[in-house]
Amino acid sequence: MKKTHTLIQNWYKTYGRHELPWRTTTDPYHIYLSEVILQQTQVKTVLERYYFPFLKKFPTLKALGDANLDDVLKMWEGLGYYNRAKNLHKTAGLLTKQGQARGIAPTLPSNIDELIKLPGIGKNTAHAVAAFAYKKPVPIMEANVKRILCRLHTLKTPTDKELWNIAYDFVDKKNPFDYNQAMMDIGATVCTPTNPSCDRCPLGSTCQGKDEPTLYPTKKKRVVPIREQNIMVSVYNEKLSMIQRSGKFLHGLWGFPTTEVPLCASEYIGEITHAYTHFKLICKVYVYEELDKEQDNYFTSKEIRKLAISKVDDKILKLYLDTISSNNY
Ligand code: ADE
Repeated sequence: MKKTHTLIQNWYKTYGRHELPWRTTTDPYHIYLSEVILQQTQVKTVLERYYFPFLKKFPTLKALGDANLDDVLKMWEGLGYYNRAKNLHKTAGLLTKQGQARGIAPTLPSNIDELIKLPGIGKNTAHAVAAFAYKKPVPIMEANVKRILCRLHTLKTPTDKELWNIAYDFVDKKNPFDYNQAMMDIGATVCTPTNPSCDRCPLGSTCQGKDEPTLYPTKKKRVVPIREQNIMVSVYNEKLSMIQRSGKFLHGLWGFPTTEVPLCASEYIGEITHAYTHFKLICKVYVYEELDKEQDNYFTSKEIRKLAISKVDDKILKLYLDTISSNNY
């Protein structure tokens, strides 16, 4: 094991993505934020559009905890999976209150059991915060690491428990920070899902699956269900009606209302599609000109830009604006 760890550490020294900003900080809040954003978003997008603006707006856990949820959602706009933002805000709020009660600046706990109790922090995020912010000798378990472990041990359909046991046995307890970052980088750049470069892999000499790595783990064939919705864009005086969602899905975000049956006098302007992880959404978009309406919750497109809206509603808005500007409507 010692030799394998040395190979991993040496590989990381040469090829690791050391410059990623969440790897050059020791601030647990910055590291926690990065782990939450990276759960469902690519490194490139996080770096280009979200990580720095979010930290500029909410530089500390306290600033985030004291913030208004609408402002947090606005900074998250376009990232999707908005529960992540709501849970970040909730966790920051809880820790801020706890800090105030004790008269100290809020911070994240270093203990995995304590971390897992916080809203939105699952087993992997808790391990990542412990390993990266507090240098605890624990493994992490994101998709790249899972793939490497499966190939190392020729596992096709391991249970989570099996994988965590293997990961705990394998982690480099002397330098868990570099080890875990290296495992992610090896998975992202060498032990890739479809075309792994085993000749460049520091684990080549110990990998049992290297003859046919792509057999491990078994790829799940997913049939994604399709959901259809009718969207009603109500227009009054060139302003558009928006509602703030209160249900579980996209809670707190502003959007266009759905309708079971489009009004007879409405006009169909086209459809937009959006791929979520668990389903594909098709929205048929109708426009209805209101003749006499109270001005509540009607916004110009400039005002809409200040609200936090989902990608789907952004696509609907674009479709509407394109339609009126091309005079098709
Ligand atoms: N994905 C999740 N955590 C990450 C990290 N620390 N670096 C790069 N990608 C990640």
